[in-house]
Amino acid sequence: MPAPEMPNVIFREEQKLLQILKHVDMVLEVLDARLPLTSSNIRLRAMLAAKNVIILNKADLAERKITDRWLGFFSREGRPAFLFSAKNPAALKDLEKKILQQRPDNLKFNRPLRLIVAGIPNVGKSTIINRLAGKYALKTGDRPGITRGPQWIRLRTGWEMLDTPGLLYPYLRNENSKLALTAISALEGADAPPAEDVARWLIGRIASRDELQRRFLRAYLLDTAILPDFDLLLQQIGRMRCCLGPGGRVDLHKTANLIINDFRRGAFGRISLEEPELAGLLEGG
Ligand code: G4P
Repeated sequence: MPAPEMPNVIFREEQKLLQILKHVDMVLEVLDARLPLTSSNIRLRAMLAAKNVIILNKADLAERKITDRWLGFFSREGRPAFLFSAKNPAALKDLEKKILQQRPDNLKFNRPLRLIVAGIPNVGKSTIINRLAGKYALKTGDRPGITRGPQWIRLRTGWEMLDTPGLLYPYLRNENSKLALTAISALEGADAPPAEDVARWLIGRIASRDELQRRFLRAYLLDTAILPDFDLLLQQIGRMRCCLGPGGRVDLHKTANLIINDFRRGAFGRISLEEPELAGLLEGG
């Protein structure tokens, strides 16, 4: 039975994944490198036990020094974690090499490694499946050409991978995690806080560090003095970027979305949203 706070749909998806797990040697859990802890699923950790290999994806959008500290964090926890960026074509070979190093020792000599990619929405699961599959992937299903649900595909490395990712659900531990998950587009719809709240939170994070603040202001050709005044900031950005509504008034909702989308596409440069030193606090909170 699902826990009382867990919606049925999540319970069903996780049960499905549990069934699949019996047939795989390795789960590539894709996390967003900008938000490694909050984009992971703590229930999954217990479900996966030793099969979990972490991919910190979208490394091109995260601050390298902070990402390195995250790699150290996972390593200290005894959990293999690797960087990946779909924007870096050279990263694929490196990822394949690292996956190979994690191949379980007890695999029968002639059996291919079987893997599945899993993670919360929008962290890059499908992108990684497509990269690993490349143009060499072959369906290994018994009736070629007929797709009935998830299919195993044979990769050029000889491994077999499920062509459909395991969908996990973000763990919404508090309001901050909702805001952060919405900022990286992992949370949408009814669960997501309003764009204005997300933009305010994002700007708060950016304003807390001089370097990020400078990049943000440069992106919108703004003056430092207005950063603490969120409403004025939105007015200025909205006017400058023509986010206008009836009567030529600034549409604050549209402006907030513009800022969020600019963050998502890296318009302010690399920004990490959480640091490993706070991980203990986050996990407890
Ligand atoms: P999902 O299966 O986990 O839901 O994620 P998906 O692969 O669909 O990727 C979600 C978005 O993240 C896509 O952008 C994808 O291009 C982008 N993405 C994936 N990996 C990386 C990465 O390493 N770096 C960066 N910067 N972006 C990445 P989109 O705008 O939603 O779609 P598209 O227009 O790029 O196709």
